[in-house]
Amino acid sequence: MVVSGTRDRAAAATPPAPGRKAVYRSTVGAKGVMAVSGLLLLLFLVAHMAGNLKIFFGAESFDHYAHWLRDIGAPVLPHTWYLWIQRFVLTAALVGHAWAATVLALRAKRARPVRYAHRPKVQGSYAARTMRWGGVIILLFLVWHLLDLTVGTVNPVGNPATPYANVVAGFAPSRWPVTLFYALAVVAIGFHVRHGLFSALRTLGQRTAKGEQRARVAALGFAIILCAGFLSVPFAVLVGLVG
Ligand code: HEM
Repeated sequence: MVVSGTRDRAAAATPPAPGRKAVYRSTVGAKGVMAVSGLLLLLFLVAHMAGNLKIFFGAESFDHYAHWLRDIGAPVLPHTWYLWIQRFVLTAALVGHAWAATVLALRAKRARPVRYAHRPKVQGSYAARTMRWGGVIILLFLVWHLLDLTVGTVNPVGNPATPYANVVAGFAPSRWPVTLFYALAVVAIGFHVRHGLFSALRTLGQRTAKGEQRARVAALGFAIILCAGFLSVPFAVLVGLVG
């Protein structure tokens, strides 16, 4: 991001020519959509990871938690309404996030019609590539994950009323390829979160080498905690700590 960061700063300092105003405004709009949707998705990830840790308190506690999720907002909201509102908001955030990422990537490409002869080995190009592939892996994972632990069609138990049993059966040692896919997706999410959070913190924080370093460390620390929390569940089932 060193290259585009410098460009961003230059763009912020110099007002665009009248003909470029619309593009400038919609670029700012796409970045806003990226940030707001990213924050919503991140909030969900943190809540989901923390909720998953309930599994270490046993089947009753975990199943009770899953049933409680369906009654959030009661008695004002009828059964499962909160969950459906959350699903709607998350889907909109996901679509918005992917749309903004595509718009910004295409615009950046158009702004640099001649490719670099030697692509600089800076974090920017590396992160951009991992973000793209990461995004695809995460989307594929989501489809599998929903079929596995929400709908239950690809889960050996697949009973929505018994999420603890679904998780234990889903990560059984014999299903190690599935667990490996989960691990790959969680690591992809870790890279994604680290890069997104770093960009956001750098934009909000001090534009100094020290400020940038602090943003880098905070984003990395946060991503590691998130990944470790998510991975702890399949790992615990795999080694028989949960079962
Ligand atoms: C790797 C560890 C993970 C475990 C053990 C896990 C477990 C679960 C379980 C048990 C459910 C069903 C909950 C219920 O029906 O009450 C669920 C739903 C869900 N999970 Fe995960 N999950 C993991 C990772 C993730 C990740 C990384 C994401 C996001 C990329 C994610 C996104 C979702 C979504 C969107 C739902 C559907 C929520 C709904 O019903 O609306 N999960 N997960």
